[in-house]
Amino acid sequence: MGLGRKIGFCAPFQYPVCMHNDDNLRRQYLDALGVPVWERRALSVAPVADAPKQKIPASAPQGVARPAEVSPDWAALEEAVRSCTKCDLYSTRTQTVFGVGNRNAQWMFVGEAPGAEEDRQGEPFVGAAGKLLNAMLAALGLTREQVYIANVLKCRPPNNRDPQANEVEQCEPHLIRQIELIQPKLIVALGRHAAHSLLKTDQALARLRGQPLRYQNIPLVVTYHPAYLLRTPSDKRKAWEDLRRARSIIAETGTA
Ligand code: URA
Repeated sequence: MGLGRKIGFCAPFQYPVCMHNDDNLRRQYLDALGVPVWERRALSVAPVADAPKQKIPASAPQGVARPAEVSPDWAALEEAVRSCTKCDLYSTRTQTVFGVGNRNAQWMFVGEAPGAEEDRQGEPFVGAAGKLLNAMLAALGLTREQVYIANVLKCRPPNNRDPQANEVEQCEPHLIRQIELIQPKLIVALGRHAAHSLLKTDQALARLRGQPLRYQNIPLVVTYHPAYLLRTPSDKRKAWEDLRRARSIIAETGTA
């Protein structure tokens, strides 16, 4: 018991972080989140249960789609998004940004709308905010391939302005269908736009954080948007608290 593990403490909360000896990478990501880890090398303790790891299907040989990727449901939804002209954003987009990741994921992360880089590459969270999201995932021991990442809006609002109510109204059925198909164990709403859209509330993000919330019957954790965290690094620790709470919720629901 406890072999190969050390217990660390996250300042300033003094909560323990279980560190594997080979966990340097995760430590770097926690550093990126502004969560310093102090290690007590001599202390050996019973392992804290890690969040259950995703069961990732072995990657399919090149050119052979995984079953979920050929499902008519997903194909129809992808086509509906690709050809959507329901709001004016279609006229300014380079391309739609559907979503990315594991379609059987336990974790689903929902952002606001594509930015310039996402509009260019056709994938959510690939710009600066995406790099921080990757770091947040890595701190949880997750990769982009293990989770599913999508936005409320599938098209970029010009100049990255806030989504408008009619755009959310027209676009959110796509997100709702993604959630129906994935059936994640937990949704993390990144920022107030995702939280407001999914929860149909206009409560401030500060009030929504830490609350036991659900979308349909799926537990939902609200945290700061990575772009906000880039501007306000002092709140990264609070975001880490939210993610740890999310991890506990996933652990409580058991492994898929
Ligand atoms: N911000 C978002 O909300 N989504 C993205 O995909 C990128 C930045």
